[in-house]
Amino acid sequence: MKITVVGAGIVGLTTAAGFADLGHYVHCADIDTAKIATLSKGAVPYHEAGLESLVARNVSAGRLSFGHDPSKALAEAEMTFLAVGTPSEDSGEMSLGALWSVVDRFEPWTGGARRIVVIKSTVPIGTAERAEARLRARLPAGCAVDVASIPEFMREGSAVRDFFEPTRIVIGTASAEAAERLTQLHQRLPGPIMATDRRSAELAKLAANAYLAVKISFANEIAGLAEQTGADYPSVAHSMGLDPRIGPHFLAAGLGFGGSCLPKDARAIVRIADEAGAPQTVVEAAMRANAMLPLRMVRKLEAALTDPSRRKVTLLGLAFKPGTDDIREAPSLRLIAELKRRHPGISIAAYDPGANGSAKKVVPAGVDICDSAEEALRGADAAIVVTEWREFRQIKADDFKNWMNRPIIMDGRNALDAAALNAQGVVCIGVGRLPAV
Ligand code: UGA
Repeated sequence: MKITVVGAGIVGLTTAAGFADLGHYVHCADIDTAKIATLSKGAVPYHEAGLESLVARNVSAGRLSFGHDPSKALAEAEMTFLAVGTPSEDSGEMSLGALWSVVDRFEPWTGGARRIVVIKSTVPIGTAERAEARLRARLPAGCAVDVASIPEFMREGSAVRDFFEPTRIVIGTASAEAAERLTQLHQRLPGPIMATDRRSAELAKLAANAYLAVKISFANEIAGLAEQTGADYPSVAHSMGLDPRIGPHFLAAGLGFGGSCLPKDARAIVRIADEAGAPQTVVEAAMRANAMLPLRMVRKLEAALTDPSRRKVTLLGLAFKPGTDDIREAPSLRLIAELKRRHPGISIAAYDPGANGSAKKVVPAGVDICDSAEEALRGADAAIVVTEWREFRQIKADDFKNWMNRPIIMDGRNALDAAALNAQGVVCIGVGRLPAV
């Protein structure tokens, strides 16, 4: 089948390369000409595990091509997947500008089956219906088109695995024919396929991300309570996670959620809900709780380190989670802002195994981005583990002691073996746990 995917971000590119790998002919378009030039050479312009080899394999097999003008491909493809960005506006509303500009580029076609346009981007409820009405109003009567909603649940860092092993495939349509054809297209993927209407599919995505945000904020609030009452949060989380009604995932306390999805989708659902007259107070509270976490960390640092304004503090990790070079809405950025706000004279060094390059473009001047953990830790009076990269677990107690001025580690992700480090003379203070005595 001929498929067009618009948007060569992680979701669009993985979807394009994934369907090509399943044997379809896929054209992937993006207005970012630099990105398309890189992709046409077989390289992926961002870090995503397994994606470069998947792209290269399908480009050389002649099943995957790239371009920046989707118009022709849109007219030729039986199915089009829209995976363009829907960033937050200042109001928290999702911007649909990129989506409408693609919808408005469909040229009339002649012959062939009814076209299906699938919205993969995370969008407000009712967007598929609006897109369909907009297309039908523009196109001549002979150009039959259905718009479906198939939200994407893949995670950054494991997008390729999530494409081939999805937790679920939610197909939201308004026509039995579209539902049938889209079910067939996804049949070779192992996840359960669930057919529903378009509005439910759209809300299912927003609700899933909002729920994950709530779960993380709940974890962080209980961890704060554990700190104040002398309990050990990791033991509490382990016990909670053994209850199948709760489950073990997304209970890790730390510096909170970031990235290009959870914060944006939480803001969007709150806004949509306000307009709909069904306020999402739980999600709102989760956002507020998340925003407080950098301050909580800085206060803990202040308790462990006298006069931070005159000290050097090292951030281990900048990416919003390990395995990615993405620092969009990363907790590291909020933490840097809070450290500088409360301690204008503080000296900050940072190192991230994957995100140094993207961080250099956005961190405020004066933050010293270093090429290694050792370089960042040399002469530091304290370090904060911001992102739980495996590399940081391999730093030995002796290294911390030799490199740092004072071996004080605030482990903002409970990533290190605090007991072992403390036993060897490193002060390692985790989240939701009592400091070692
Ligand atoms: C999230 C969802 O998990 C995906 O299902 C969804 O498809 C995606 O958004 C999207 O909408 O495109 P992602 O943004 O890649 O995926 O990241 P997550 O793995 O969900 O992590 C989000 C944030 O939560 C990270 O900052 C992470 O450090 C934090 N987190 C996660 C915690 O603080 N504690 C946890 O227990 C888990």
